[in-house]
Amino acid sequence: MPPMDGKTALVTGASSGIGRAIAQRLADDGARVYLTGRREDELRKAAAEIGPAAVAVPCDVSRAADLDRVVDVIRADGRRLDAVIANAGLGVVGSLAEATQEDYDLVFGVNVHGTLLTVQKALPLLAEGASVVLLGSTTGVQGVPGMGLYAASKAAIRNLGRTWAAELAPRGVRVNVLTPGPTATPGIEGLAGLNGMTTEAFHAALADQTPLGRVGRPEEVAAVAAFLAGPQSSFVTGAEYFADGGQVQV
Ligand SMILES: NC(=O)c1ccc[n+]([C@@H]2O[C@H](COP(=O)([O-])OP(=O)(O)OC[C@H]3O[C@@H](n4cnc5c(N)ncnc54)[C@H](OP(=O)(O)O)[C@@H]3O)[C@@H](O)[C@H]2O)c1
Repeated sequence: MPPMDGKTALVTGASSGIGRAIAQRLADDGARVYLTGRREDELRKAAAEIGPAAVAVPCDVSRAADLDRVVDVIRADGRRLDAVIANAGLGVVGSLAEATQEDYDLVFGVNVHGTLLTVQKALPLLAEGASVVLLGSTTGVQGVPGMGLYAASKAAIRNLGRTWAAELAPRGVRVNVLTPGPTATPGIEGLAGLNGMTTEAFHAALADQTPLGRVGRPEEVAAVAAFLAGPQSSFVTGAEYFADGGQVQV
């Protein structure tokens, strides 16, 4: 029987990249998957491609009312959540001297406040033994020039993972952080542009930073998400799993 057979999952930021791959993998593993994202057309296209197990619910995770609507949809379907993957995230590039209030509000509003709202709003629907997976970043344990705001937002995610693991353990709910290294997604292409590089040159520069000598595929990150979301990780909580080609481990 597939590991997520009969289970229900919520994946934020599921219209592209890593979130899209996680939604596909969880659906392949038997789950009904609710996908969120701001661009409605992209989101509905992703859900249609994944198949009948996928439900698109447009939502900006930095807006509490949007997440209330997502929860209402899931509740109206008579479902509880077995897995929540708080994946929606974005970054800006800029040094300490260049950082603006708008940059701060955007990055912390989506990556930190959006993650908090996602898990907070999902709380009443979490099933006994549910799994929450938060998306970190290798920058969260590094000092990368120009990435300070993004890195700090992901370092915050690491602690929220530990704290929520402690708070939710009495309910049997597990919380872990999944930390990708450089992964080939539209998001990283955007960062290439912000750095004034082509995607190919940016990938090559990132590949040089990993012992495996390449960037990852979204499916490789999704495989770890599936492990953390499902029953095979039943004794894992408060942990951080790196899918980074060894970038910050070796
Ligand atoms: N790719 C990497 O190398 C890498 C490395 C480390 C960590 N990560 C983390 O992995 C996660 C996914 O990254 P990715 O590279 O797959 O990014 P991506 O390709 O840019 O996809 C991001 C997804 O999040 C959605 N999103 C963005 N802001 C949102 C918001 N406010 N509300 C709801 N959805 C939102 C986007 O859809 P809409 O724009 O339509 O909302 C999109 O579906 C992020 O948390 C990122 O920080 C990525």
